[in-house]
Amino acid sequence: MDRTLPKLVTIFGGSGFVGTHLVQILARQGYRIRVAVRRPDLAGKTRIFGNVGQVMPIQANLRNADSVRRAVEGADIVINLVGVGHEKGPQSFEAVHVQGAALVAQLAKQAGVSAFVHMSALGVDKAADVSLYAASKFRGEQAVLAAFPEAVVMRPGLIFGQGDGFFNLMGTLARMFPVMPLISGKTLFQPVFVGDVAEAFAQAAEGKVKTGRVYELGGPDVESHKALMERILREAGRKRPLVPFPSGLAKLGASILGILPTKPLVTGDQVELLGVDNVVSEEAIRDKRTLAAFGIVPTSMDAILPTYMWRFRRHGEFDRDDKSQSGGSVAA
Ligand SMILES: NC(=O)c1ccc[n+]([C@@H]2O[C@H](COP(=O)([O-])OP(=O)(O)OC[C@H]3O[C@@H](n4cnc5c(N)ncnc54)[C@H](OP(=O)(O)O)[C@@H]3O)[C@@H](O)[C@H]2O)c1
Repeated sequence: MDRTLPKLVTIFGGSGFVGTHLVQILARQGYRIRVAVRRPDLAGKTRIFGNVGQVMPIQANLRNADSVRRAVEGADIVINLVGVGHEKGPQSFEAVHVQGAALVAQLAKQAGVSAFVHMSALGVDKAADVSLYAASKFRGEQAVLAAFPEAVVMRPGLIFGQGDGFFNLMGTLARMFPVMPLISGKTLFQPVFVGDVAEAFAQAAEGKVKTGRVYELGGPDVESHKALMERILREAGRKRPLVPFPSGLAKLGASILGILPTKPLVTGDQVELLGVDNVVSEEAIRDKRTLAAFGIVPTSMDAILPTYMWRFRRHGEFDRDDKSQSGGSVAA
């Protein structure tokens, strides 16, 4: 009888939005999985994606070298999904995206890990001059490739799917407020489905694509920020005026609201990011460093958004048919 154990994958950030989708794919493929997060007690839901004992949440913090060393010990594959959208206390962009990413890559290399996949974000090279988030993600990529030259770096665009941050937040705002602010309405976005991103990570972990490269993952639709907001209002079945909001005013509002202890709706840094197009580059398309390299046909927003945005409709799942009567409009 063959008693060879299946390969062991450590996924830093495996309990988050992208992580839970990725754990499901890798568990189905038979991998043993360590979900390495600060709060393994809150990651119990990932256990049910595998057989008994196949998925194991463990405690690890990218800001603590000993915990990272323990998490990568004996692993065949390491994936780093950890990222923060805004800084809070010790969870700074520098500590998480640069030093934390470098630490995981260095310790994975030392531990003899054979494959390393790192999560960055689309457009971080272009936006590095205006956004601290982008600059830190960009430097993180470089630190990872310096420590682990055969790493695969992924830059997805705005990610949509069950449990996402952006579309669910906008749906909630559309439900709560009579108007919707529109900051940088002309900026282009290329949202990508979480299932496609997770599938690309799984393939990279299995060594199916060229390593030492940065891949840019975008969906089939390129839409302006305004068109995206109109789409969200359509899906949420809400008629709300989209009120253009100057980015200077938005930054001022964000800095005032940033004083509150709650998670900020938007930060000044995110307002800056909203001013930079977020689409797959010509170079990535030319070099086949896109979803095409994984043989993945990108899934459209049309196919996925209706499956979860119905909950923002006035009558939930029961008023899905009046979509055509609603939608956004820009106030004069
Ligand atoms: N969502 C998007 O639209 C999007 C687009 C492009 C790129 N990305 C990138 O994709 C990655 C994943 O995004 P997501 O939306 O899945 O994030 P998420 O839902 O916020 O999940 C973050 C994960 O990281 C863990 N974590 C946070 N700080 C940590 C630390 N110091 N040490 C260890 N684990 C830590 C969290 O668990 P604990 O809190 O228990 O530690 C959680 O499992 C991020 O790097 C993000 O920048 C996301």
